[in-house]
Amino acid sequence: MKLGLIEKYRSRLPVTPATPIVTLGEGGTPLIPADKLAAIAGLPKGSLFLKIEGANPTGSFKDRGMTLAISKALEDKARGVLCASTGNTAASAAAYAARAGLPCVVFLPKGNVAAGKLAQSLMYGARIVEVRGNFDEALATALAAAKSSGYTVVNSSNPWRIEGQKTGAFEIIEQLGAPPAFQFMPVGNAGNITAYWRGYRESGKTRPRMMGFQAAGAAPLVLGRAVLKPKTIATAIRIGNPVSREGALAARDESGGLIDKVTDAEIIAAYRMLARLEGVFCEPSSAAGVAGLLKLSRARFPLKGRIVCILTGHGLKDPETPLKFKYKRKTVTAGSRVTL
Ligand code: F0G
Repeated sequence: MKLGLIEKYRSRLPVTPATPIVTLGEGGTPLIPADKLAAIAGLPKGSLFLKIEGANPTGSFKDRGMTLAISKALEDKARGVLCASTGNTAASAAAYAARAGLPCVVFLPKGNVAAGKLAQSLMYGARIVEVRGNFDEALATALAAAKSSGYTVVNSSNPWRIEGQKTGAFEIIEQLGAPPAFQFMPVGNAGNITAYWRGYRESGKTRPRMMGFQAAGAAPLVLGRAVLKPKTIATAIRIGNPVSREGALAARDESGGLIDKVTDAEIIAAYRMLARLEGVFCEPSSAAGVAGLLKLSRARFPLKGRIVCILTGHGLKDPETPLKFKYKRKTVTAGSRVTL
């Protein structure tokens, strides 16, 4: 039987014997080498790794924080849980709340949530509120609804979410036998980079340089100001005013890393390369870190040592984006000769 990550890391997480553990067997995701991508980035064989967070129970890294946030909400006798989300947090909250028997309400930016994520929230039985506006506006709407409602907010402003997500760093250190030299990852609301940095800080002296990438049309941390109308094909990170801004900037500065931006074209190129060269289908937002790595390698940024890219969500979350591309395909009559 696979233990969930609270049981695995109990001594390093804020739980007590009285905490009721709500788990779907999250964590323990694969870390696999990506030698073809390494070659394209001019890196030595065996130096580049992908952390496949799409292998979590609801298909994204959000499950790491949600197992803890929902367990704590149950312990605190919350009436229910709610969140605003670009889709993955909602899917994860809905699943863990269903398992806990707690009502769940999700606030989604109408028209900007990938189909698979919406399908998940529907299936897990969440109440769905579609907000005409972007993620930042959906979050403000959700927080106003939460006030004196008895519902616990399970966005990454919830401290248990960050605590749970820090376990990604623990796993990478176990899988590599030491922390990597660099970690590349997408940045949206900035909770995940904050969480990984906490995990690495708690784990020892050597720490990776944290390399975060935002979509160019939604890059408030790069511009140094909120973006009122964020725009990107990578809907999961279509966020103009990140809640965990301070955590992300601290991760960048304390680690000697950077937070930069990548264009939609660069994101899509990396997304397709991951699938075709490495057999790894992630969602577009997840490819932002790899797009950043390729961008820096083109600019001859000095990269040395082992590098991990976090692929935050599964490609099947978003079945619509791939279908927009042109593919060669043909239809034949059954029984006709097909030459290869
Ligand atoms: N990748 C994916 C697939 C995401 O869903 C998110 C965030 C991120 C990266 C960025 O992580 O916000 O911690 O910097 N998704 C949130 C959501 C906002 O509502 O599902 P972050």
